[in-house]
Amino acid sequence: MSFLLTLIEYHNRRNYAKLLLYFTNHTFMQERIQKFLSEAGVASRRKAEEFIKSGQVSVNGKKARLGDKVDPEKDVVKVYGKTVKPAEKKIYLMLNKPKACVVSKKDPRGRKTAFSFLPEELQKKVWNVGRLDYNTEGLLILTNDGTLTQELSHPKYEHDKEYEVETAEEPSEHQLERLRDGVEIATGLTYPAKIKTRGGKVLITIHEGKKRQIKRMFDAVGLSVTNLKRIRVNKLVLPDNLHPGQYRAINKADIL
Ligand code: URA
Repeated sequence: MSFLLTLIEYHNRRNYAKLLLYFTNHTFMQERIQKFLSEAGVASRRKAEEFIKSGQVSVNGKKARLGDKVDPEKDVVKVYGKTVKPAEKKIYLMLNKPKACVVSKKDPRGRKTAFSFLPEELQKKVWNVGRLDYNTEGLLILTNDGTLTQELSHPKYEHDKEYEVETAEEPSEHQLERLRDGVEIATGLTYPAKIKTRGGKVLITIHEGKKRQIKRMFDAVGLSVTNLKRIRVNKLVLPDNLHPGQYRAINKADIL
């Protein structure tokens, strides 16, 4: 009701900018209570609906009804008298990691970290999905979503990782073929890789993530890597206009 009154008040005052802002905020900040409860980890949506129907859920002290909407930032929702903490808003970022920085929040050797390219507020909230070596540049995903982290890190999902590689020597067809087939590195035989060449560079796609895997694979066929850049993780391609040290907010659907 107060929502409607505020809208009418702004309308009467001909304050259309505020009217629009208020309407937008109100519309998008609200979500159905059963969705709120399931995302907060209280119960599945169906079970949450049962709690609501049986009168065990309150919003700001009033009994909730199925389909009611709540604003997770403002409303106090209780189930069986206990306040429900809203689920943390999920954050997904891609960073173009520059060379000469480590992928960790702190470095015992005092080197620059990839996280230092984010504002302090974000540094605290997110972690990296996978790593890139100190002198590797390119696409690094940062998030606070544990499920996504697991899905991208677990080998069983076989998500592609594509790298652009520059080498000191010009690769021969035979060397490229060996990389394609799989080569023996310290951790065993690598899975077959997709290999292309573009402008004198090798594009290699793998779905494993062994330590220093690309450098070791190239070493194993007698090629020394002079520049290594990750350009894609699954669906997510590093955009040309995202320069080293820049980051951008993305959606989960951009990756998976
Ligand atoms: N393979 C490497 O050798 N280094 C990286 O940083 C990533 C993949």
